[in-house]
Amino acid sequence: TILVLDFGSQYSHLITRRLRELNIYSEMLPCTQKLADLDWTPKGIILSGGPYSVYWDDAPHVDQAVFEIGVPILGICYGLQEIAWNFGKNVLAGEKREYGHAALKIERHGDGETGGHVDKLFAEIEDDTEVWMSHGDKLSHLPEDFITIATTKNAPFAGMAHKSKKYYGIQFHPEVTHTPKGKIVLKNFAVDICQARTDWTMGKFVDQEIERIRKLVGDKGQVIGAVSGGVDSTVAAKLMKEAIGDRFHAVLVDNGVLRQDEAKQVKETLTAGLGINLTVIDASKRFLDGLKGVTEPEKKRKFIGNTFIEVFQETAKQIAAEAHGSSAAGEIEWLLQGTLYPDVIESISFKGPSATIKTHHNVGGLPKDMNLKLIEPLRELFKDEVRELGKNLGIPEDLVWRHPFPGPGIAIRILGEVTPEQVRIAREADVIFIEEIKAAGLYRQISQAFAALLPVKAVGVMGDKRVHEQMIALRAVETTDFMTADWFPFDGAFLKKVSRRIVNEVDGVCRVVYDITSKPPGTIEME
Ligand code: XMP
Repeated sequence: TILVLDFGSQYSHLITRRLRELNIYSEMLPCTQKLADLDWTPKGIILSGGPYSVYWDDAPHVDQAVFEIGVPILGICYGLQEIAWNFGKNVLAGEKREYGHAALKIERHGDGETGGHVDKLFAEIEDDTEVWMSHGDKLSHLPEDFITIATTKNAPFAGMAHKSKKYYGIQFHPEVTHTPKGKIVLKNFAVDICQARTDWTMGKFVDQEIERIRKLVGDKGQVIGAVSGGVDSTVAAKLMKEAIGDRFHAVLVDNGVLRQDEAKQVKETLTAGLGINLTVIDASKRFLDGLKGVTEPEKKRKFIGNTFIEVFQETAKQIAAEAHGSSAAGEIEWLLQGTLYPDVIESISFKGPSATIKTHHNVGGLPKDMNLKLIEPLRELFKDEVRELGKNLGIPEDLVWRHPFPGPGIAIRILGEVTPEQVRIAREADVIFIEEIKAAGLYRQISQAFAALLPVKAVGVMGDKRVHEQMIALRAVETTDFMTADWFPFDGAFLKKVSRRIVNEVDGVCRVVYDITSKPPGTIEME
């Protein structure tokens, strides 16, 4: 395993990502991680970039053990400065920012004085190569016992290596795609210099994870978890099913604001298709009754979130009582959560999680007073790895590629009050829009699409009659991380077809508009 210590650069997680693409297992932890607290020893350590200057009083620094355990170290950007700072505090020039492409010139030293290890980082890369720079401070001269292994026009020490130890620092970012040979640099470091194993695959992950779950839970332990029909919770549930069979209890809460026929479909796929032990609770009346008169977006979110927790807790109690009654099983002690790596990264960051923009209610966000221990089998994976894992576990393609759907459901896609009639309209329009997107072969290209209902009335003529009805707003975005997003450029013929179908087929709608707001300033959802 390669340990990545994160100083908070926006690119840090990509380091882990690239290493896994090379079939090398890698974990990222906050830069302040004490090595003595790990129950494993890394084969090598990478210090990431970060938005600081090592000279600031509150600048973060790594555990001294990093320089004592004797494994190779690669410092990237701030990481390079952290190494330099450890080998002599006066080696940095002030903050001169440099962003963008730079031409890197590699300097080779041969086997002479240094025994050849210094050349290994840039093996198999031409002497002149393009790199991506994004940094504040740069080195003014080398720390003691280091030599230069690469330069750029503005950075005379764009790469350095220790003369006898396997410590390397680079000023550029090898983990971004703007550094075309960056992956080779990471491979040289991890495989040739650290001798990390390159046998990490999804199949192996599945076996290891099933083994780990079995050990953790024991032969009697029981696990409960909420599922939503989305890819994360389904993959997590299927993994539990493979590990402990019916001692895993999945719960789907029908909150009345799921998509059309969703509860039914999820039941079919999970129970009949995947053999998961699933209980569906129809709580739609309770949710819809409680939503009466609520128009404030945050109030809707809070009400749905809290009610979800109440219903889940009641169901858990009931399932626990039944399970306890049957002789084979123990108590339910565990709660499954579909937490992914990006959520983990966010919460382990030493700066603390980023500010809350909206109250996100996830199926996972359950209260601590349930007294259950958490089990999070996906916490090491990125979204596309979860998809791959899903395919590996035999989950249908359709589900694996499903667009994300928010916990508060279409309640936050119905602006204003949520009534059963408004739910019907929003659902029917959504079905048509998604059907047409799939028919046009655009579903995978679009990251998320849905129909929202605007509770304003406009005039139209339908048949020979004047009507006064509501509007549907279509939303479709492309994004990689859901933090920023662009609206999808449909062609006119497509929009015309969708609009005609919605107006003709959905009672209560006489106009359709397309939302052409990017995020930011818009958000993906409308509330
Ligand atoms: P926004 O609207 O914040 O959405 O741009 C970003 C992504 O998050 C999803 N989203 C949610 N997911 N619970 C969820 O599980 C929520 O409360 C929630 N709100 C937004 C949204 O669908 C998009 O994918």
